[in-house]
Amino acid sequence: MFGLHPHLQRIYRPLGFRRFSNMSRRSHPSSPDSSPRTAKRQKREHTPLSPDDYKGGLMLAPMVRSGALPTRLYALKHGAKLVWGPETVDKAILHTTRVVDPVTGVVAYHGKSKPIFTCHPIEKPFLIYQIGSADPELAVQAAKMVQQDVAGFDLNCGCPKPFSTHSGMGAALLTNPDLLCSILTALREAMPPEISISAKIRLLPSQEDTLKLVERIVNTGISCLTVHCRTRNMRMREKAVIERLREIVDFVEKMGKGIAVIENGDCLGYEDSKRVRQVTGAHSVMIATAAEANPTCFSPTPLKDLELTFVPGYIRLGKYLNNHWSSTKFCATQFQGAHDKASRTDLKALREAIVHAKGYEDMEQYVAPWTGEQEFTEIVEAIEKRGGQRAPPMPVPWEDVVVAPLEAIEENGQLKDTEVVARLHEPRSDGAATAPFVRGAVLSLEIPSVGGGGETIAVQ
Ligand SMILES: Cc1cc2nc3c(=O)[nH]c(=O)nc-3n(C[C@H](O)[C@H](O)[C@H](O)COP(=O)(O)O)c2cc1C
Repeated sequence: MFGLHPHLQRIYRPLGFRRFSNMSRRSHPSSPDSSPRTAKRQKREHTPLSPDDYKGGLMLAPMVRSGALPTRLYALKHGAKLVWGPETVDKAILHTTRVVDPVTGVVAYHGKSKPIFTCHPIEKPFLIYQIGSADPELAVQAAKMVQQDVAGFDLNCGCPKPFSTHSGMGAALLTNPDLLCSILTALREAMPPEISISAKIRLLPSQEDTLKLVERIVNTGISCLTVHCRTRNMRMREKAVIERLREIVDFVEKMGKGIAVIENGDCLGYEDSKRVRQVTGAHSVMIATAAEANPTCFSPTPLKDLELTFVPGYIRLGKYLNNHWSSTKFCATQFQGAHDKASRTDLKALREAIVHAKGYEDMEQYVAPWTGEQEFTEIVEAIEKRGGQRAPPMPVPWEDVVVAPLEAIEENGQLKDTEVVARLHEPRSDGAATAPFVRGAVLSLEIPSVGGGGETIAVQ
């Protein structure tokens, strides 16, 4: 028998989700959020994100177009700890109208012709909204518009595309640290403490300049810093220079504010994240391209044969959530994973059908029966299964995990006797750990997801 140390048990907090899965399937009339009944039904309790919640996990990166609501929900189902929404420029959200679908709970911020941002209450405790801005006041106004639907705000300080940089946003902020920090400070001051603030930057050409910038950013009071380990001028096909991150992580840790540093760049998924954390020492890892191709890559057992196992359900869910067909279609054409069983002819036929489909109805032959409710229910259940934790099971570099008998551990979780620990070193293929030797009668345990490396897990 084994059990968790009480210190660790206390970390598991109930999030108090409500379920949407029992709702009957109807057509999707949209109603403004002014209805008190609707607003009450959407309300969810959740604990605010702390810097620790940004640690010890795999995160879905912000991705314009590809970070759509169904993709974020699947990423959460398959093990992403937190999900970043696509960058939304501050001004774009200001003139939207918030509309709640009373059947599915989907919240859409409608612009003139289409929703600018769409989200769901089930993802709220895990959802980081990314702002594109070059103006503290506009950033705060934008944040106020959506703060009821998200857990935190991230400032995009890394986009190198001219449409961002020409107006001073994205990577242009890297060379304007006064403006960058004034936006973060304004957001921190304007938002209540339960809303976290973070920033996503790229490396500067010199490490010294990067550290200077990081120091200023950390001092604004953010909870988390993501570093895309490429410089502004590097192309995506160039390898990310993740080796530079360790010094940055050490530097931030020495600042003593407990802020999380997330690595971003070239991580392929759950297994590969062990390499990335080992090289960088980062608290967490954020994945973009690999998740765009396979949103289940956060799992120790990512799905294969996506055309059979994933794409039809994704399209059903998209329809159920009223996700705009153009968005579902775009995402579905990006998916590609390893192949096991699917035949080339099946894959080709599905791909072609998606490319030629003008709407969901054109996909009927491939994805019917249509409801999509089953997919949504499974996602809700997977998120609820976290049992009050924000984190799903996560990979930990093995040498960081120690196992000790209860009497060797202080009430605060610290080790009092370092002589008695055993180190885990036999990863099982499913990502759980096996303890090859533990003093006492315990032979094995599963690693709970309680933060970054160096965890102490007590067994009885
Ligand atoms: C389709 C796509 C859209 C992206 N959109 C954003 C964005 O909205 N905000 C942002 O900060 N980075 C954006 N990025 C960059 C990624 O978040 C990430 O920094 C980059 O792709 C490196 O991670 P990777 O090596 O895992 O792909 C985007 C990347 C892709 C592929």
